[in-house]
Amino acid sequence: MAEEQKKEPRISTISSTFKLWLVAIIFFLTFFHLYAIYNYPQTRIISNEVLLGLVLTLVGYLWIQELRDRERLQAINLALIKAQRQLEHAEIDTIAALILAEEAKDPYVRGHSKRVTRCAVELAQELGFSQEQRKTIERAGILHDIGKIGISDAILRKPDKLNEEEWTVIKKHPRRAAEILEPLSFLTKEKEMICHHHERFDGKGYPDGLKAEEIPLGARILAVVDSFDAMNSERPYRKPLAEDAIISELKSACGNQLDPGVVTAFLGLLKKKPSLWEREG
Ligand SMILES: [Fe+2]
Repeated sequence: MAEEQKKEPRISTISSTFKLWLVAIIFFLTFFHLYAIYNYPQTRIISNEVLLGLVLTLVGYLWIQELRDRERLQAINLALIKAQRQLEHAEIDTIAALILAEEAKDPYVRGHSKRVTRCAVELAQELGFSQEQRKTIERAGILHDIGKIGISDAILRKPDKLNEEEWTVIKKHPRRAAEILEPLSFLTKEKEMICHHHERFDGKGYPDGLKAEEIPLGARILAVVDSFDAMNSERPYRKPLAEDAIISELKSACGNQLDPGVVTAFLGLLKKKPSLWEREG
């Protein structure tokens, strides 16, 4: 910490008033010299060489200070950007901790967001996403079910089938998530992905009934890994599905619920990385 403080950029020590004074002195000396030449041509109070030397020294000094000020301002700017990023990360970490704490209360969804994130990031890499895009997917993955916070446990943990009214409440969670994250302006793409992670490829999903490529690719990725984790996890009314059954369910969801291209990539990834089947959060 002390080390970091030492590296903090310092604000320029030369003030604007001082710079103005230096410029005024240069003007005064030049004016005085010209006045003397014109009115007292025989007398030289100050020689041309001395005046030129003085003026050049002052101009050079001002120029060097200007460059140093610019460097310091750039350093301050970078430090501010870094601090802003750290604040943004702290906000995401706080929200993520809240989600994980909420999930931890329920053994059936414990670790769900972490597993969805892990699979989504691996799948994004498989699909050739850049590091920045993978970071976006990672944040969207961890926050994708934040909209469920606030839904009563009676609905979320109901062991039986949900009735129509309860489904209406559940279906509000993607939009609710976008509303919760609205103040975090740096999460624009994440909000889009989260808001649409329950859209279906055939347009029969929610909240907006978007179809195929209308659905952001990140949301289509989340939809695949979210479904996978749901089938691969235990529920109050069933055991996790067998691997073969999950693969066949994913294949049969191609083109109706899920994006066929994303499913194909994910099935290939599951073969390459069997560790993705592990259920530990
Ligand atoms: Fe969801």
